Amino acid sequence: MPIQLKHPEAPFDSRAEVMMPGVGGFPPSDRPLFLAGYSELCRIDLSGKRALEICGGFGKLAAGLAETFPHAEVIGLDLYAASGPEIEERMKRLPGLSYVAGDAFDLSAYEEASFDLVWGQAALHHLAHDIDGLCVQVSRVLKPGGRFVFIFEPMGHNLLVAAIRAVRMAQGELGDESNLYLSQFERATSHFSSCEVQMFNLLGYPMKGVSDRFKFLSSAVHRIDSWLFRKFPKLLRYGANCNVIFTK
Ligand SMILES: C[S@@+](CC[C@H](N)C(=O)[O-])C[C@H]1O[C@@H](n2cnc3c(N)ncnc32)[C@H](O)[C@@H]1O
Repeated sequence: MPIQLKHPEAPFDSRAEVMMPGVGGFPPSDRPLFLAGYSELCRIDLSGKRALEICGGFGKLAAGLAETFPHAEVIGLDLYAASGPEIEERMKRLPGLSYVAGDAFDLSAYEEASFDLVWGQAALHHLAHDIDGLCVQVSRVLKPGGRFVFIFEPMGHNLLVAAIRAVRMAQGELGDESNLYLSQFERATSHFSSCEVQMFNLLGYPMKGVSDRFKFLSSAVHRIDSWLFRKFPKLLRYGANCNVIFTK
């Protein structure tokens, strides 16, 4: 099934802004990408529903979603369960939120069709060695119409990403990480009914190195990227970063 390529532009869902602290230490130039991604997390009203974050790390984003939907059950899963006093305080404040240790490739602890949303941020490029295995697990636990969302992933079609990350990989800096390719998403659609890929950072990739003081420069390059994507849609495949939304 073909995937749909897009470059979403503001306005984004106002609830996405509230979740921005979940971004942690990521570059400010990626704000539009995160706002678009978090808008996707809010697309289904999760009140009374269940959501699972995979590769959730310290779980700030899971907490942001639990705050946005206080009547949802939100589970943050990572190989290393988030723990400590801050996590305890969060779980007391947000009774629907919990954190578990587990492997994204083994969701056998969860019943079939038991989640409305499964998502990961900066996650898929850590799981890229077996995207098919991951999709088998996730599509089993998702309800029909449920969504599988990835936010902030690096794309190997962008030559600058490919070059910079090749050097960093050669230096052993990127551990279990891989760049992603659209053909991998196309293959994964066999487990879902649709796939949308939101592309960002055509020329904007180097802006990640620009300090917050010069954010006017990042904003200007973002506007140029948006114009280029609108004017020449074939450039969409060369975006450096993406969000991916599969629907079951
Ligand atoms: C780049 S961090 C992203 C953390 C968090 N999502 C964020 O945006 O800050 C990747 C995370 O993936 C987790 N991870 C890697 N492989 C995993 C697996 N097979 N199952 C669950 N978590 C995994 C790592 O422990 C790490 O916390």
